Amino acid sequence: MIFKNILMCKPKYFDVVHYKLNSHMLMQRDVNISKSMTQWVSLKHKLDDCLVDLKFVKPKKNLVDMVFVANGGLVYKNKALVANFSAIPRQPESKYYYKFFDKHGFDTYDLETNFEGAGDGLFSHDHHNLWLGYGFRSDLDARNEVSDIISEPNLNIHSLKLEKENFYHLDTCFCPIGHNHVLIYPKAFDTENLYKIYDVFGERNCIQVSDEDANNFACNSICVEKNIGGINYTTIIGNKFSEQLKNTLYYLDYEVIENDMSEFLLSGGSTKCCILSLDYGFGNRMFDVDNIVDENYYEMREMRTYRYNDI
Ligand code: ARG
Repeated sequence: MIFKNILMCKPKYFDVVHYKLNSHMLMQRDVNISKSMTQWVSLKHKLDDCLVDLKFVKPKKNLVDMVFVANGGLVYKNKALVANFSAIPRQPESKYYYKFFDKHGFDTYDLETNFEGAGDGLFSHDHHNLWLGYGFRSDLDARNEVSDIISEPNLNIHSLKLEKENFYHLDTCFCPIGHNHVLIYPKAFDTENLYKIYDVFGERNCIQVSDEDANNFACNSICVEKNIGGINYTTIIGNKFSEQLKNTLYYLDYEVIENDMSEFLLSGGSTKCCILSLDYGFGNRMFDVDNIVDENYYEMREMRTYRYNDI
């Protein structure tokens, strides 16, 4: 999927030694704060050069993982499903995401089952398929709640069981990109689940990444558009890619940009974890959320609903 409206959170309080939530968090050393800030700012600058609108949620003291906004919720059109973290130390984040979504005019939903947002919920490029990961941080049953909230005739919802602890969120091993391709790390799934992916995307549209690329979080990349000299290029931004994977992507007409995210890898996250798609109206930028002021908030909300129905 091509991201157009993106939420980020500055890694002001980011650290990795407080608790261990996944197998990447070896907790052997603190995060190098200035290096992590440099890497995050460099990602932001790269996104500034792309065709995206960036929004920010304020980092909160002691919430050391809040930089990983992907886990804050899942947005579909005007609906925002706020994360119900299974990771106990991250549970206090939910109320800040709730406030953000509510303030910005989304219809905001709390969930009862554990569901860690866009970390375990990814749309395919055409938005007709939503893939929900479970097995480590989100519940299989989250699917019922999610589909009750966002069911639509032309949206198919699939569950994917995650098998490997190093690939504990779906966005670490499965990455739908533009033109209906998907980067996948096959070893993170069993055969049955792998075939669910092949069946929908077609096997030739599934770009299988190597162990090396998977461990460098190639599947935790983002897909955006960039205008160079009047031409729009579909661009993949990620931590690091092998020459082989870069060539495969170039061949399929993607531009590739690397942004070192090594400090975030210490926590089991990378590029995609640091962004959350806010693509209401599928990124048609129907109106700018910054224009919402309290007085006309409800009016704007109604207006937006009306415009959705118009599509
Ligand atoms: N340390 C964080 C955690 O375990 C990393 C989150 C990565 N986020 C993601 N969407 N994969 O919660």
